[in-house]
Amino acid sequence: MRPQSLVKRSLLLLALGAAMPAMAQAPAPWSDTARPAQQRAAALVAAMTLEEKFDLLHTLFPPRVIGTPGAPTDILPSAGYTPAIPRLGIPEMRASDASLGVANQVEQRKGDTATALPASLATAASFNPALAYAGGAMIGAEARAKTFNVLLAGGANLTRDPWGGRNFEYLGEDPLLSGTLAGEHIRGVQSNHIISTVKHFALNPQETGRMLADSRLDWTAMRESDLLAFKLAIEGGKPASVMCAYNLVNGDYSCENKVLLTDILRHDWGWQGFVMSDWGAVHSTVKAAKAGLDQESGAELDKAIYFGAPLQKALSEGAVTKAEIDTKILHILTGVIESGLYDHPTPAHEQPIDYAAHAGVAQQAAEEGIVLLRNEGNMLPLAATARRILVIGGHADIGVLSGGGSSQVRSVGGVALEIPLKGGPASSFSRTTWHSSSPVKAIRALAPTAQVTYLDGTDAAAATRAARDADVVLVFATQWRTEAEDVPDLSLPDGQDALISAVASANPHTAVVVESGGAVLMPWLSKVGAVVEAWYPGQRGGEAIANVLFGKVNPSGHLPLTFPASEAQAPRPMPVGLAAMRGNDAASNAGSEGEAVTPFPVNYKEGADAGYRWYAKTGAKALFPFGYGLSYTRFGYSHLAVTGGDTPTVSFDVTNLGKRAGADVPQIYAKVPGAKAPRLAAFQRITLAPGETRHVTLTTQPRVLAQWDQASGKWLMAGGTYTLTLGHDVTDPGLSKQVRLGQRSF
Ligand code: BGC
Repeated sequence: MRPQSLVKRSLLLLALGAAMPAMAQAPAPWSDTARPAQQRAAALVAAMTLEEKFDLLHTLFPPRVIGTPGAPTDILPSAGYTPAIPRLGIPEMRASDASLGVANQVEQRKGDTATALPASLATAASFNPALAYAGGAMIGAEARAKTFNVLLAGGANLTRDPWGGRNFEYLGEDPLLSGTLAGEHIRGVQSNHIISTVKHFALNPQETGRMLADSRLDWTAMRESDLLAFKLAIEGGKPASVMCAYNLVNGDYSCENKVLLTDILRHDWGWQGFVMSDWGAVHSTVKAAKAGLDQESGAELDKAIYFGAPLQKALSEGAVTKAEIDTKILHILTGVIESGLYDHPTPAHEQPIDYAAHAGVAQQAAEEGIVLLRNEGNMLPLAATARRILVIGGHADIGVLSGGGSSQVRSVGGVALEIPLKGGPASSFSRTTWHSSSPVKAIRALAPTAQVTYLDGTDAAAATRAARDADVVLVFATQWRTEAEDVPDLSLPDGQDALISAVASANPHTAVVVESGGAVLMPWLSKVGAVVEAWYPGQRGGEAIANVLFGKVNPSGHLPLTFPASEAQAPRPMPVGLAAMRGNDAASNAGSEGEAVTPFPVNYKEGADAGYRWYAKTGAKALFPFGYGLSYTRFGYSHLAVTGGDTPTVSFDVTNLGKRAGADVPQIYAKVPGAKAPRLAAFQRITLAPGETRHVTLTTQPRVLAQWDQASGKWLMAGGTYTLTLGHDVTDPGLSKQVRLGQRSF
């Protein structure tokens, strides 16, 4: 061999030698993407030290930790943090609230803005799963670009009470609608390879005394209502995490409730992700650990860091086992792997965000969610010829209202107005905030030749005088809601009802645009020409409202919750415990550091018949029923046919009878044998050109038609005659067909 070849050969051998160890070493089992997530997670658990495990069992609450000695340097002001375990590729976990966008309550991260979607109620009103997905995907993309990877999103609680402070964060009162849309929202978030929760598990519809309210409902009824919504959301969205709630459920705190966290979630549903607590919702060590809580969130908010030293002590004393600890870590890491986070770590630094495209998502959500409730003599859409338009109230000159609490987004475009609270349970983390999206400006853009005047409405007499001289009056009415407080009643605050009444008496061409986080009463309804429910319409709300008012967008939203005619119609006439909770902010607020107060029961006597089903049962006539919503065109239904079998299928024709394109939401309600109340069994949103007819086939959701049988742990479909009604809302007699179904269980 020539010397040169010898050199080459030895170089090659050297190179091969260097590569040998890597080639010989099999990849770590947790890196093998061909294996199921749980198997990979189990391999990680086996490789972890106890100390590493304990780092994952509780998350730090950044506002309490930042600036303290030894605090991690890469921690962001937000909801939660756990450190990375680099040797095993386990990323640090940064949690942010994300119901309506990447939240930044009380501007804890100075100058950090994000796209603000409208209230979830608007998304629900669209009855559009694709829109829920798009919203989730948008939030997830922004979160990831901001280096967050655990999103506290997916609110799936049923809005059982019309005054619920967080109703705006939820998807209404029906399990099929809520569960379907929550699932799509979560799927959208997690499409970015990050974790989403579904929250707050379970039965957490009231804010009054939320750390003490003991939600009472029998388990069968819960399976058919609130738990059904969660189950559908979990099936559809496959969230890596479930967040247990503040309240107690049938006597046990949600986060130490074995029936909820183990019997149902694990044994019955076979769910493999991790249960994280709500912030300040843990009250014990061993009980919570044994019940099925995996991770104590924002642990500095609890009375003790239960899943820190106390859990270590319990482990050393044998009160909990190593296997139990390992199971918790297995759940956490299965979620980390299954969501894609492990294989696609979040970037170390902020990435650019296409805010313009995301604003389009926010505007579409607002436009599809706005509900036209009244339109006498086709007062709307406004004629482009209107000369003198008077706009009154709601700070419509500068912005649109948003809901308060942990979901508060500091929107791109800025804050138009922010009012700190004077007191109350929400005051530490909530401010009344208007996004900078001015309806008046948007109205002026659409009516450039009109004279558009704005009055703030504080002088009712002046507003009434001005109304007389206007061609059209637009009153913007607002009702603010926030996490941690229910609204005490459903009236518009600050004399707005009297203002609307006076203005409408002066000029019947008055339209009221309501920005609210749920139902409000409308004592002035018969006096006004039109009512538009705009919810909290998000950072493009001004534009969306103007587009609807002028007919650039044909309204298509449908109510995802009942608007009662009076508070007395609701199952409970006011928030339970309101009087007792007044002045006891610590007890009713997040964080359990307040003085010990005894839990109090909230009896959900309506059982599974929440929302519109309660109205059907009691015969009460709502102001506006569930599913209701007008359009600038009309839709007709024909040729209803129903096929039986295990899962009845419904088909029919929908025709756009008017002259404008528009979207309709045909709804199928089922009356099951023996039940008084109808149940939403299928729905679809469809867009039709003028005169167009579409043949639609929908499959009903079998669990809506069935009853839960606690004894067998199965759904039972009673044999008998079922009536299926196709209607525009739950009270619409529409078209009906009967179908006989055989008895079966599943
Ligand atoms: C809320 C949760 C939220 C958490 C973290 C709690 O007060 O109930 O919805 O995700 O805070 O901010």
